[in-house]
Amino acid sequence: MSSQSAASRYHDTYAAWKADPQAFWAEAAKAIDWFEPPKTIFDAGAGPYGRWFPDAVCNTCHNAVDRHVANGRGDQAAIIYDSPVTGAKATITYAELLVRVKALAGALADLGVAKGDRVIVYMPMVPEAAVAMLACARLGAIHSVVFGGFAARELATRIDDAQPKIIVSASCGIEPNRTIAYKPLLDEAIATATHKPAGTIILQRPQVQAALTPGYDHDWAEVTAKAAGRDVPCEPVKATDPLYILYTSGTTGAPKGVVRDNGGHMVALAWSMKAIYGVDPGEVFWAASDVGWVVGHSYIVYAPLIAGNTTIVFEGKPVGTPDPGTFWRVIAENKVAAFFTAPTAFRAIKKEDPNGTFIGQYDLSSLRTLFLAGERADPDTIKWAEEKLKVPVVDHWWQTETGWTIAGNPVGLGILPIKYGSPTVAMPGYDVQVIDDAGHPVKPGTLGNVVVKLPLPPACLPTLWNADERFRASYLAEFPGYYKTADAGIMDEDGYLFIMARTDDIINVAGHRLSTGGMEEVLASHPDVAECAVIGVHDALKGQSPCGFVVLKAGVTKDPAQIEKELIGLVRDKIGAVAAFKLAITVERLPKTRSGKILRGTMQKIADHEEWKMPATIDDPATLAEIETAIRARGIGV
Ligand code: COA
Ligand code: AMP
Repeated sequence: MSSQSAASRYHDTYAAWKADPQAFWAEAAKAIDWFEPPKTIFDAGAGPYGRWFPDAVCNTCHNAVDRHVANGRGDQAAIIYDSPVTGAKATITYAELLVRVKALAGALADLGVAKGDRVIVYMPMVPEAAVAMLACARLGAIHSVVFGGFAARELATRIDDAQPKIIVSASCGIEPNRTIAYKPLLDEAIATATHKPAGTIILQRPQVQAALTPGYDHDWAEVTAKAAGRDVPCEPVKATDPLYILYTSGTTGAPKGVVRDNGGHMVALAWSMKAIYGVDPGEVFWAASDVGWVVGHSYIVYAPLIAGNTTIVFEGKPVGTPDPGTFWRVIAENKVAAFFTAPTAFRAIKKEDPNGTFIGQYDLSSLRTLFLAGERADPDTIKWAEEKLKVPVVDHWWQTETGWTIAGNPVGLGILPIKYGSPTVAMPGYDVQVIDDAGHPVKPGTLGNVVVKLPLPPACLPTLWNADERFRASYLAEFPGYYKTADAGIMDEDGYLFIMARTDDIINVAGHRLSTGGMEEVLASHPDVAECAVIGVHDALKGQSPCGFVVLKAGVTKDPAQIEKELIGLVRDKIGAVAAFKLAITVERLPKTRSGKILRGTMQKIADHEEWKMPATIDDPATLAEIETAIRARGIGV
């Protein structure tokens, strides 16, 4: 344990929430400007497990932008754009942000977008991505942001599920080693999808000019110029109306449409900025993630803006754009008070700058805390970051589903002692418990299923988009009365949680959540593949990386090395570069139980040199030895 002060208001705050959750959230709701304030705080009878603030009326854009301009923050920077991949930098004040958001909202309205309509946002890390999200929120439209690293097929799946009226996109995204033209991907996705949006708005970037189809594709600059100066008021919406849908990996290829509401989302995020991140309005808060992920939604766009902070939209990587000092430059130049990123980013920096030489070149005196999330923070990385940055390094655990911290170390309430490897303790709102497979509580220090006693707090998903039954089946059915996080973990005597692994087929690659089931579906579509299994194997940089095992159909004479290459290309083509699928291994057969279940868990343990037991139900024990030989022959775990 490191030596922070144990004096913290956390225990009192958590006890106050537990004693009267409704009073706690009613108090937190005062941070929000409501068109009609909540009279009812929680309706236990609505939705699959209840709904927060069911009778309140509000608008998220009003709270994130308009009210700050009205209250004197107009000249404060709302968004700082820093793009080492293009060399561009810009500062957008709250007043300017309001003008831009109104103009895009007007343009969307001109194209027929109204309250309740869906809009897909497929954008790189440019300020216009945040403008698009806020413009939707202003109209009461529901945005669904799709990460730029996904392939056309993934985009098509989301188009069919969300059924957007309009898609907002850009001509390109920029990776350090290549420029990705988005328009051909977008065209392919629209052609593949059954649902046809009414049109697109495309931001033309100087690096690539997208070919626009007149009457269907609209130039961002033109349509916003046309709508500029018009007053586009914030549409009153119910607190329970959806603000956005964010698709995340499920255990199959069909992603889950996580729904976020307006009211509860604002209340929990506003509370978190001071209590968890310890920042005050006016300070600079930076989450180096992507708007395509939940961290980007909550902590690049909504929470900092709702709280009146300055946020940073960073278009670059922790290393190579141009060097491992990029993060420190941005922190020093912008006086960042709190910084949030994924452990994998730190591992990448540590690898290139082990002695912290670049860190020493910048004045980081503004930085008070480093926050890590997205994957298990390994103690080595935390200790290195603590030593080099000389600020507390705070791990916190959450999910796309929750939208904010389940377990964390609430810096604003007084930091708790840090235990390496633990994201610390349950936040108010979450009654976190660890139970065995039969649903019984386990003793402190024992590994089990981490669950949250219902109801979930404000901002957590009320359901899945158009899929209440899938929501119930995925999260509520296995342990009645609880939300299943699908993480396995331990709670110690002090209530500290240790999140160890997923209990489903989801892997975490460079802080990105990916479905092995989805990859298996792609591998199985190859004409030469009879069956397959994908597992996540330990990766020193990315935490995990996917590894596919394939059994070829009888009679296939093609060179297996060629097929493996095709399979790698196929996953990249169908899911996207972000899947980072670089390893396919041809084997004679897969290890299975007598009932035919592939022993993926045992394969993963063998690959990672973890302790494993021969499953009693195994069909042929020799198959595991064969897998071990195949794995080691490719240098995994050697
Ligand atoms: N658009 C298109 N392609 C993208 C992309 C995007 N927005 N983001 C990533 N990719 C591509 C990458 O270029 C790479 O392609 P390649 O195989 O041709 O090299 C591939 O997807 C895999 O990307 P990634 O796993 O991110 O690896 P990387 O080597 O590019 O970068 C890290 C490694 C660690 C630097 C990077 O993953 C990182 O910064 N991770 C932090 C993640 C994070 O913030 N997560 C949010 C939770 S807090
Ligand atoms: P995502 O929905 O992409 O944010 O991924 C959520 C999953 O990432 C969780 O269910 C965990 O498995 C993992 N995760 C996120 N944060 C942490 C953390 N701080 N420690 C351990 N695992 C984490």
